[in-house]
Amino acid sequence: MIRVLFVCLGNICRSPTAHGVFRKMVADAGLSDKISIDSAGTAAWHEGKEPDARSSAHALKRNYDLSDLRARQAVAGDFSTFDYILAMDSDNLNNLRKLMPGGFSGHLGLMLEFGLDGQDYEISEVPDPYYDGEQGFELVLDLLERSCIKLLEHIKLEDLSGGAP
Ligand code: 4NP
Repeated sequence: MIRVLFVCLGNICRSPTAHGVFRKMVADAGLSDKISIDSAGTAAWHEGKEPDARSSAHALKRNYDLSDLRARQAVAGDFSTFDYILAMDSDNLNNLRKLMPGGFSGHLGLMLEFGLDGQDYEISEVPDPYYDGEQGFELVLDLLERSCIKLLEHIKLEDLSGGAP
């Protein structure tokens, strides 16, 4: 099982959106028994809460259901559980580095590392939509759909193709 954790600040906008998008792609690819997914925030402010209503509404318009997700804070123990820990922006990444115990052998990095091939995007972070208008939430979905496709391709190639002759 390959385990993927998406991390943002509050775990109510960007990382639950990544969670919902990637979960659907993995299910559609028939890989739900091979890839497990979770999301967390570096802050504890929204612990136990549902995703932001704006994130849920925009995601649902694209057929991603976030209604079962609840916010939690990222913890040091996540580094023993997950193979990929993907931060939405560099602040989140810096906070995760502070939390990381020694000896983590998985992949800690920015989500948009997986969307930055060629000239597609100059943007390297998923912008925080919390104080933005509706188009901020659409941009989050656009960026995450693109990078989740790349992430799934990467995992299939690097982690799930072993053993084939
Ligand atoms: P997220 O967005 O990190 O994408 O979940 C935010 C959610 C809440 C806050 C900031 C960002 N906040 O300040 O409460």
